[in-house]
Amino acid sequence: MSRQRTLPSLAIVILAAGKGTRMKSPLPKVMHKLAGKPMINWLIETAQTLSPERLIVVTGPDMPDLERACAPHTTITQHQQLGTGDALKAALPALEGFKGNVLTLLGDAPLISAQTLFNLLQVKESNHHVGLSVLGVQLQNPTGYGRLITNSRHEVIRIAEEKDASDKERDINIVNTGAFCIETARLTKWLDKLDSDNAQGEYYLTDLPQIAAQEGATTRYALAHNPTEVMGCNTRADLALLESEVQKMLRHEHMQNGVTMIAPDTVTLSFDTRIDANTVIEPNVFFGPGVSIGSGCLIRSFCYLEQASVGNDTNIGPFAHIRPGSDIGEQVRIGNFVEIKKSTIGARSKISHLSYVGDCEMGEDVNFSAGAITVNYDGFQKHKTTIGNGVMIGSNVNLVAPLSIDNGAFIAAGSTITENVPADSLSITRDANKIREGWASEYRKKKKQLLQKLKGE
Ligand code: UD1
Ligand code: MG
Repeated sequence: MSRQRTLPSLAIVILAAGKGTRMKSPLPKVMHKLAGKPMINWLIETAQTLSPERLIVVTGPDMPDLERACAPHTTITQHQQLGTGDALKAALPALEGFKGNVLTLLGDAPLISAQTLFNLLQVKESNHHVGLSVLGVQLQNPTGYGRLITNSRHEVIRIAEEKDASDKERDINIVNTGAFCIETARLTKWLDKLDSDNAQGEYYLTDLPQIAAQEGATTRYALAHNPTEVMGCNTRADLALLESEVQKMLRHEHMQNGVTMIAPDTVTLSFDTRIDANTVIEPNVFFGPGVSIGSGCLIRSFCYLEQASVGNDTNIGPFAHIRPGSDIGEQVRIGNFVEIKKSTIGARSKISHLSYVGDCEMGEDVNFSAGAITVNYDGFQKHKTTIGNGVMIGSNVNLVAPLSIDNGAFIAAGSTITENVPADSLSITRDANKIREGWASEYRKKKKQLLQKLKGE
């Protein structure tokens, strides 16, 4: 997009001071996450693709997390939430000295595309009579949105908010998405003319087209072609709808990149999930933030992964939990009911069934048998287990950390190991195997006699 060459300089203001009462949440609305990333950051990233000279976010009082999420961009506080017009007014000090167009976006409509915003900027510049451009969208059900009232020349003469609209106006299905583009000097002048004489007693940004008309300027609208990209978030149900859109988008990208998903609708991804081509994801897999998977892997059903990396040609699951800080090498096999936490697993190692591996550095070609675990916590502190290359850990072994097992060692099944094990040695900590011949039949005989005696009495 060659905005810089064709369009005047740009400042973007995102309105995000609303508490989002309808979300019934202690979080500011725009801090709710989509695919693991706050809504506001989705919008900021899209806004940045338009290369604005300034990017300003209007926040409410006491929203330090939101301010942090917006950094390094300017945030400015709207002290009282008196409406969208008042929120934009709060941003004016941050626009001082700026000449060019201001693009206003609503923080609670985070999926808008850069192309659509670019179209809105172009409409603003299409003709020198245009004082304002508004992004509209045609909806089957326009309930809740401001309606664009147009004249025969397709100019917007007014925006009627749902609560202020007449029955006839409510039938209009081209609605205001909330995105506007206006030149700074006019914005400053026109915002001064807003009043709060309406059903909600608020300063509506949507009164700008009427003010523009009074000043002899026209308002034009651009249309977003895809209603889902301008979907707003007012309730938790809206949040779930937005999440499902984001998931669809992410899955599509991964499949385009050569990832096979057998049942894509059941796979949950994060904004930063990285999966190389030629990997297969079975149904019902959850990728939390910070996961990267190599190529040629098979992630089987019901796995949960977060903040972990997986090398090429590795199979995981079904039913595995790969927790933060796990770095799994190439051609590894992680089987069912295995939990890995903050551990490095060397190439070709196998942890095939029912194991816990935490705070462990495991070498290559290790066999970690069924039911074996690292005992990494003493009730106060976590301790590390180091396992060399080619080690065989038998079934049901407890490795009590801190512990080091050198290359090629064998740990006998059922052992609880508390001392370091030298290379190529056997460590075994269980009673000698005793056999008492005939014991079982003798025992059964005695038990039967006892039961008969009890019945007879
Ligand atoms: C607004 C529009 C409506 C449009 C709809 C699209 C107005 C008056 N109405 O209605 O025409 O169809 O969005 O989704 O503009 N905010 C502030 N400070 C305030 C009030 C709001 O920063 O004092 C922010 C909120 O954080 C939110 C955004 O502005 O991100 C929109 O506010 P909201 O109350 O959701 O407006 P809607 O009723 O959805
Ligand atoms: Mg809204």
